[in-house]
Amino acid sequence: MGTDENSTTDGNGDIGVPAEGASMSAWVRREYGPAAGTRRERIPVPSPGRGEVLLRLRFTALNAGDVRIMLGDPLLVRPVFGIFRPRNPVRGMDVAGEVVALGEGVAEGARVRIGDEVVAELPGGGGLAPYATVAADRVTLRPAGLAPEIAACLPIAAGTAWQAWALAGLGGGAGAEGGAGGVTGVGSADGEGSGVGAGAGAGTGGGVSDGGEGVPASGTGVGSGSGVAGGVGAGPVGGARVGSGARSSARSGSDSGSAASGQERAPRVLVLGASGGVGVFAVQLAALRGAEVWATCGERNRALVERIGAVRTVDHRVTPLSELPEAWFDAVVDVAGGVPVRSLQRLARDGGTVVLVTGDGGPVLGPIPRMIRAAALSIGSRRKVRPLAAAVRPPIVEELVALADAGRIDPVIERVWDFADAPEALAHLEEGHAVGKTVVRIGG
Ligand SMILES: NC(=O)c1ccc[n+]([C@@H]2O[C@H](COP(=O)([O-])OP(=O)(O)OC[C@H]3O[C@@H](n4cnc5c(N)ncnc54)[C@H](OP(=O)(O)O)[C@@H]3O)[C@@H](O)[C@H]2O)c1
Repeated sequence: MGTDENSTTDGNGDIGVPAEGASMSAWVRREYGPAAGTRRERIPVPSPGRGEVLLRLRFTALNAGDVRIMLGDPLLVRPVFGIFRPRNPVRGMDVAGEVVALGEGVAEGARVRIGDEVVAELPGGGGLAPYATVAADRVTLRPAGLAPEIAACLPIAAGTAWQAWALAGLGGGAGAEGGAGGVTGVGSADGEGSGVGAGAGAGTGGGVSDGGEGVPASGTGVGSGSGVAGGVGAGPVGGARVGSGARSSARSGSDSGSAASGQERAPRVLVLGASGGVGVFAVQLAALRGAEVWATCGERNRALVERIGAVRTVDHRVTPLSELPEAWFDAVVDVAGGVPVRSLQRLARDGGTVVLVTGDGGPVLGPIPRMIRAAALSIGSRRKVRPLAAAVRPPIVEELVALADAGRIDPVIERVWDFADAPEALAHLEEGHAVGKTVVRIGG
């Protein structure tokens, strides 16, 4: 590998494959603790093991999960990521990069080739370094037209939003265990969601069908919609307002959702915490599927959240959830936390679903008590509360890559940080007020 700290060239301007035993300069935090303790260190370039590929990284998109692992908070994460210190001291799980070497058992061309541009999730981290290894069957090809910094944002953040809607029964069956179909949006993650709205398709989970395309072919690309969804304005919400750029494909004559199936209205959904990494995708995916999206976010992010598809925004610092209409939503996705499960359940209609995305909870057990409460409150209730444990699902990432490549979802990148400033990027996320995605340029 090259001689300077972050070089990925062989000195001739060509992409270099690191020699056996080569080292690289990475951002490392060997003990659990805040971002300020992250240091630059030379560590060995990893070798791809059996079934793995070596990636030369271009961009790493950070997630709240990176911060949780960095802090070892809640303690519950430690048995998984390292009891006394993080097993992998390098943070960064969502990456885009180039395949530069194949491990044993990975046939050139079978799924990947050297030189392929890919996007992947590195379980447990490794992205704040020039090179990383990942299982060959976990990478997704990146189309040439899709910028690597955008692609890097997709696996965890957008994948989580996708799986949340699947759990709520609002499309997203692709790649989800038990779900049926591809972007046809039929079925839920576990094949038994209660279903949102009343799509015409036959689904294993009774979820919304969009009449064959999942994501409307004519309709509502991000940022291009206009008009306000029908029915908006009827809700008795103090402090809420109608988004200027909002749209609902079901109301705009696309082939999706209730319009196509002759139903009375589009699914009504609420996203709590719409301005963060997961939230911006949750809003966009729901809007793409024809839902009428309500969202909570801070005042400073209202225009953004409305631009990406919310028809109503509610400032979580001004309007308590108790002011939102009871039994109004077909699905509520909580990405923010901090409110009792019962008050979320109150917002869902009978037959609706609340999905708990956030790992919100105490310093030891994290979300576990909340999950137990959710299970208890769901017993005998027509308003199910379902915790989400999102997983890496390459078929979902493929769907997301296709949507991003078509310009139909956008990670809303707040800032691309230079590699030299990676600890500041982690610290920014640690503060809890990131907007959209925080991305670090590795090799560019
Ligand atoms: N279940 C799973 O499998 C899974 C997977 C991925 C992520 N997660 C969890 O999902 C959560 C969100 O992740 P993320 O990456 O999106 O985080 P993030 O990007 O760090 O989220 C930050 C954003 O959340 C907003 N926010 C915070 N509290 C809020 C509240 N009470 N109401 C409305 N908005 C609020 C902030 O807005 P302000 O600046 O206005 O406060 C900020 O814009 C995390 O808890 C993460 O651990 C779970």
